[in-house]
Amino acid sequence: MDFRTDPRFRGIEPFASRVWLSSPTMHGDEQRWVDDAIATNWVSTVGRNIDEAEKTIAEIIGVQYAVGLSAGTAALHLATKLAGERLYGRAKPSGGTLAGHKVFCSDVTFDASVNPVAYEDGEAVFIDTERDTWNMDPDALKEAFRRYPDVKLIVLAHLYGTPGKMEEIRAIADAHNALIIEDAAESLGAMYKMKGRWVETGAIGDYNCISFNGNKIITGSSGGMFLTDSKEDADKIRKWSTQSREPAPWYQHEEIGYNYRMSNLIAGVVRGQIPFLNVHIEQKKAIYERYREGLKDLPVTMNPFDAKKSIPNYWLSCMLINEKAMAPHTRGELNEKWSHVRGKSSPGEILAALAAFRAEGRPIWKPMHMQPIYRDHVFIGRKDVGADLFRRGLCLPSDNKMTPQEQDTVIEIIHRCFR
Ligand SMILES: Cc1ncc(COP(=O)(O)O)c(C=O)c1O
Repeated sequence: MDFRTDPRFRGIEPFASRVWLSSPTMHGDEQRWVDDAIATNWVSTVGRNIDEAEKTIAEIIGVQYAVGLSAGTAALHLATKLAGERLYGRAKPSGGTLAGHKVFCSDVTFDASVNPVAYEDGEAVFIDTERDTWNMDPDALKEAFRRYPDVKLIVLAHLYGTPGKMEEIRAIADAHNALIIEDAAESLGAMYKMKGRWVETGAIGDYNCISFNGNKIITGSSGGMFLTDSKEDADKIRKWSTQSREPAPWYQHEEIGYNYRMSNLIAGVVRGQIPFLNVHIEQKKAIYERYREGLKDLPVTMNPFDAKKSIPNYWLSCMLINEKAMAPHTRGELNEKWSHVRGKSSPGEILAALAAFRAEGRPIWKPMHMQPIYRDHVFIGRKDVGADLFRRGLCLPSDNKMTPQEQDTVIEIIHRCFR
């Protein structure tokens, strides 16, 4: 279908410059701190920018230690390894710490949340999603423990910046002496009310990870951090991330090492971005609210959150099409087919229409249990909410540089899809 010549879209012009899903937003200080690193020759994996970025993030999140790493994925890998070692002991150099063990994992998330379980030779068991926040379903988690009472580790992500039901999940984990790895890659700055006290996501798990990937709420261009209150854990992660050197005059190794430390240049970008975390959250919140208002007459709902117990960072605005308003849309392994029906639409049609006018949206994460690599893993859930979100949902352009006028055009395009 050619949307630009389709009479339904008459009068809509393509965006002069592309409207992104979520792209980096630089403010100026990033350059200052990167220049400072270059001018002082501290461009490697030590320096003032790393120290400052770690200190400030730890203060914001309310943890004792933040360890700068090359990516959120690196943070998740080392967190998973640390959990595995604590639970099951040190592995041989050729083996993973989770060999022979199952781990309960979020199902609707980016695969970087759960791949580290495989890096450590563990077996991810995917836990279904609830409808209230689109995160791990505590009831499905309880069922998982009924079936596999020996499991001792949970990997949980807060989807699109919306905190999951952490109070319930923490209670279930505690009842089974299980540890939680909290993947707060998408939710930096989001808050959750834990037993009456507001806490930042990234401070709730036993091991916590954030990301500074280019599309996140603030970015270092890349990078991530491991967050903890344990000095011992912070020291261990710092050591593993810099090739596991022992304090000897030569290169002495007792443990497997990684080259996962954040560079002082990347940390300069992160350092310049940190003062704008709240500004970005406010911008993303305004985008979410403008969509909610602009789409309220359509048969759709926005990604939900619990307003009493959480404050999202609104990283991505998403929408879900009501079942009755779904036009035919089928997806194969690598392609899809959709067709238009008056008064209805589909994620396929809306994403294609947005792309035709140069705006970027994205399907909801395809659930991990539906991914070819994980298809033979156990999935626990009665309703398969994740598959339903994937089928009926989509992420809307949520770039904080989008103007209200541009967003209104996006909203108009979505309306015309339903004509
Ligand atoms: C939920 C989630 N976990 C982990 C990651 C990985 O972070 P990074 O790209 O910094 O490795 C991302 C995003 O990239 C993510 O969205």
